[in-house]
Amino acid sequence: MSENTKKLSVPFHRADVGEEEALAVGEVIRSGWMTMGPKTFEFEKEFAKYVGAQDAIAVSTGTAALHLALEAAGIHAGDEVLLPTTTFTATAEAVTYLKAHPVLVDVDPVTMNLDPEDAARRVTVRTKAIIPVHLGGQPCDMQEIQELASEHNLKIIEDAAHALPSEYRSRRIGQISEFTCFSFYATKTLTTGEGGMVTTENPVAAERIRLMRLHGIERDAWKRYRGEGSWRYEVHEAGFKYNLTDMQAAMGLVQLAKCDRMRQARLVIAQKYNHAFSSIKELLFPEIRSDRATSWHLYILRLRREHLRIDRDEFIRQINVNGVACSVHFIPLHLQPYYQRVYGYKEGDFPNAEKQFSSCLSLPIFPGMTAEEVEHVIHVVQETTKQSRIAQSNAIVSPIT
Ligand SMILES: Cc1ncc(COP(=O)(O)O)c(C=O)c1O
Repeated sequence: MSENTKKLSVPFHRADVGEEEALAVGEVIRSGWMTMGPKTFEFEKEFAKYVGAQDAIAVSTGTAALHLALEAAGIHAGDEVLLPTTTFTATAEAVTYLKAHPVLVDVDPVTMNLDPEDAARRVTVRTKAIIPVHLGGQPCDMQEIQELASEHNLKIIEDAAHALPSEYRSRRIGQISEFTCFSFYATKTLTTGEGGMVTTENPVAAERIRLMRLHGIERDAWKRYRGEGSWRYEVHEAGFKYNLTDMQAAMGLVQLAKCDRMRQARLVIAQKYNHAFSSIKELLFPEIRSDRATSWHLYILRLRREHLRIDRDEFIRQINVNGVACSVHFIPLHLQPYYQRVYGYKEGDFPNAEKQFSSCLSLPIFPGMTAEEVEHVIHVVQETTKQSRIAQSNAIVSPIT
């Protein structure tokens, strides 16, 4: 690779956050009311409208969203909850907060999302819920999941940490299931630094989540301190401290207004990557099912290892040294020490997930990426592939400029 090429350094992510967000947060600070209050409620209303949900409840993290949704769904100690092994630990960890058991499921070899057929094989009398995770933004096969859930009377709690905005059969994620959980973590498609949202179609569950996100107290502090009611409050449950602040909500409102534009920017990058990589037989670019639209939170590239002299780790090392940061989503949970020690999972248990894991890497894809940065990523991936190709391979390679 040329010296010039090597000098560029592309980060994995750079948040699309600027003056507008700073002004909105500053306004809240100057108002003197910083924790949950009018901005949080406005954010909830706008978010529900944006995804087409009945109700939205803002919380402190995506993990808190999952915990509260599972609690409102009635998950108890000893219950089993199905979820894919290819996910972030938060998906399963939230289940353990309720002393319920995460039951891992293998993934579809193409979408890398939970495989409904494998999920069906793992249903027992104790199974009470299923958490489909829309990996990278591509929605799971919700029809098959709904059929499985209704056959076994399971609650569906969608983990949509990556899926804002995504669509399944022209319906936006957030309006399909009884519960959907979003994350506004720093690298997500909408960020408030840390934050999350539960959307629900169930008004009773919405009330429960509102109660439990703030200590199980039946009225919020904002009303108590604003003199819009009495100082008196009642504790109805031992709840949690999971509320979002007005400072975060102000940032969220600005981000929400930019959500479509940011998604469009990621789509353009994904199309450039697809175009550049489609003619390289050593690479598999993400295949999006025709009845779904992805948020393009992640661009997961897969290596066809049989055509390469190097493995995924070495491939990543080489693109890193040439100035491209990347990541891997995810190390399957069954390969993690905690899930092996506590639940007895071991290597070999989920062959599809292991195969995908050993060949995948996530490339930078974020709205503020410059054309030069995108070109650099393409160039480095093409060059690395070319240099590590098995000699007799007769792959067609796009011209490298
Ligand atoms: C699939 C998935 N679920 C849940 C979460 C948890 O979200 P948070 O970090 O907001 O708690 C994440 C965060 O990265 C995630 O990737």
